[in-house]
Amino acid sequence: MRPLKILPSMLASDFAKLGQEVTDVMNAGGDLVHLDIMDGHFVPNITFGPDIVKAIRKTTDKPFDVHLMIAPADPYLEAFAKAGSDFITVHAEAGPHIHRSLQAIRALGKKAGVAINPGTPEAFIEPLLDDVDLILAMTVNPGFGGQSFIYPVLEKLRRIRAMVGDRPIDIEVDGGVTAHNAADCVAAGANFLVAGSAVFKGGPNAYAANIEAIRMAALGTRGEIA
Ligand code: DX5
Ligand code: ZN
Repeated sequence: MRPLKILPSMLASDFAKLGQEVTDVMNAGGDLVHLDIMDGHFVPNITFGPDIVKAIRKTTDKPFDVHLMIAPADPYLEAFAKAGSDFITVHAEAGPHIHRSLQAIRALGKKAGVAINPGTPEAFIEPLLDDVDLILAMTVNPGFGGQSFIYPVLEKLRRIRAMVGDRPIDIEVDGGVTAHNAADCVAAGANFLVAGSAVFKGGPNAYAANIEAIRMAALGTRGEIA
């Protein structure tokens, strides 16, 4: 079983003090920083670009998981790599040349992720299994935090888990993940759990307890706690 990781999504943080939020949430137990890049074109919202990623890179030593919701993605891969990304994930729906994008990410020395929306079948990424380090199955339609988890994606997640077999690929869920559904996500095969609202609710004093609640729910399912 691949290690379980909890990834706070900074989309739910206070952007007025983004650097401090990264420091606080990672000190509270986050494993990787999840950064949502939106372009107002592939998704109906706009967030931030590589300069912001670079600026917050110095606030923690933990890895950066950069989720690109932009089309096209290829012209920006190098900038996000140089900004300090560890994982760079592109959407399979964001362009006709997903295989080329994944190759480009690996050529930049970064871990390559492919994301699929709730309405995209897993068959779409089956030809890419030897070209990815991470598969992200979106559990909401991308664009906004605070949406409700789409439960039918769990069935697809099980099929992805079976398809991956023993390849060294992390399986990520993103969107509406909470302590209430973390166990379902893990049982279906996910080991990277992204959470925005469920981590940042209640402010900095609650971050550690919020992360711990998700982790305990997930680890219990994996038989890793008594
Ligand atoms: C949605 C983003 C998610 C989002 C998750 O498009 O990709 O990472 O921040 O936020 P919650 O956990 O609030 O659904
Ligand atoms: Zn995301």
